[in-house]
Amino acid sequence: MDNNLTYEELKKRVIKLESKNLLERCNLLESITETAQVIILVLDLEDNILYFNPYMESLSGYKLREVIGCNWFEMFTSEYDRDNTQVLFEKSLNNIQTKGNISPIISKNGSKIFIEWHDKILKEKDKSIIGVLSIGQNITERKIAEDDKKRMKKTISMLEHEATIGNIATGVAHDFNNILASLQGVNLIEKGLSKIQQTIPGKQREDNNELFDSLKHYCNLIKETIELGKILTKGITNYESVAKYEGILKQQLEPHVLKPFDIFKRKFRSTNIKLNFDIEQNLPDVYINGGEIQRIVLNLITNSIQAIEQAKRAQGEIYVKLRKEKNIIKFSIKDNGIGMTDEVKSKIFNHLFTTKTHGTGIGLFTVKKILDSHKIDISIESFVNKGTCFTMIFKNK
Ligand SMILES: Nc1ncnc2c1ncn2[C@@H]1O[C@H](COP(=O)(O)OP(=O)(O)OP(=O)(O)O)[C@@H](O)[C@H]1O
Ligand SMILES: [Mg+2]
Repeated sequence: MDNNLTYEELKKRVIKLESKNLLERCNLLESITETAQVIILVLDLEDNILYFNPYMESLSGYKLREVIGCNWFEMFTSEYDRDNTQVLFEKSLNNIQTKGNISPIISKNGSKIFIEWHDKILKEKDKSIIGVLSIGQNITERKIAEDDKKRMKKTISMLEHEATIGNIATGVAHDFNNILASLQGVNLIEKGLSKIQQTIPGKQREDNNELFDSLKHYCNLIKETIELGKILTKGITNYESVAKYEGILKQQLEPHVLKPFDIFKRKFRSTNIKLNFDIEQNLPDVYINGGEIQRIVLNLITNSIQAIEQAKRAQGEIYVKLRKEKNIIKFSIKDNGIGMTDEVKSKIFNHLFTTKTHGTGIGLFTVKKILDSHKIDISIESFVNKGTCFTMIFKNK
């Protein structure tokens, strides 16, 4: 060690050494930023790009010289994500830790790249903030894999949910069928009633005529209910079990449209709802599953009756129209019920969507499933407080 150095000489040596170190450090920093497989980005306080490294160039497709000085958010974020990303940037400027945030960038070819960001504010010696250094890692593949996993989980749970509902429904349908079978005894009761009525002496018979009439009336009601129940359970078991599925056959549409009205005829007689039919004769056959079409009609009529009741109409009207137009058959059911807003209209086929206190929201969901399996289009016209019209298009080929 040279002990005879003056203070000035010593100072010069230190400066030389420091600048050599500084230069080396600069070189080292440069090679790190050039080789790093992460984004290194520097923005000023106005969100303008001051620097990014070659990795960002290859990832984004933009050269630094093309975009230097441009606003980062306008250049690299979509309008949709812009506000959120900008909030994070403001947070980091306010020295609020923003580590591990995921916000996407848009590359030159328009693709979305998901980046996990770690920000650090850059300060002058006097501690004033001059910008932000952001380190970003491309996590697009990870994000896609995670999103796929989430989607898959959702699909699986939906399928499980449907399968569970299916099992419950089939079980209920099965038991319900047994109950219906036991109700068939009503035929015997009806026969017995007629016999008793015929055998009892004249005066006594006349005295009890009213009673006999109302007992017969209830027998008919039970028979109609059994018919209705049969359609419902047949529908459920058809729908759930391929083995029992009677299939789509070429046949007449009209009887299947009319049968459910037949079942409801007593109900219509006792309410203020008028049924208007406009049914064209000799319509060509169509490919349908009869039982399933009956279920559609049953659900639509039920909804129409309920909509008329909700609207408290003095005179309810239901119009049923079945008409041929060129190669199609148009089938519509129109009511003067409560009607729907556009928002309700957009949701009616959703599973479990209902606006009724005692509704389940399964009716139209089932209708849509059946229509889809038949490839039948349906359109809805509805006006609040005026009424609703459901129109279905059947093709005869
Ligand atoms: N004819 C109609 N007039 C007015 N609104 C209707 C009509 N048909 C359906 N809607 C609306 O669509 C919703 C869904 O109907 P959907 O038949 O699926 O279920 P729901 O009738 O509420 O219950 P359920 O499962 O017992 O049938 C109803 O809650 C109602 O808001
Ligand atoms: Mg319904």
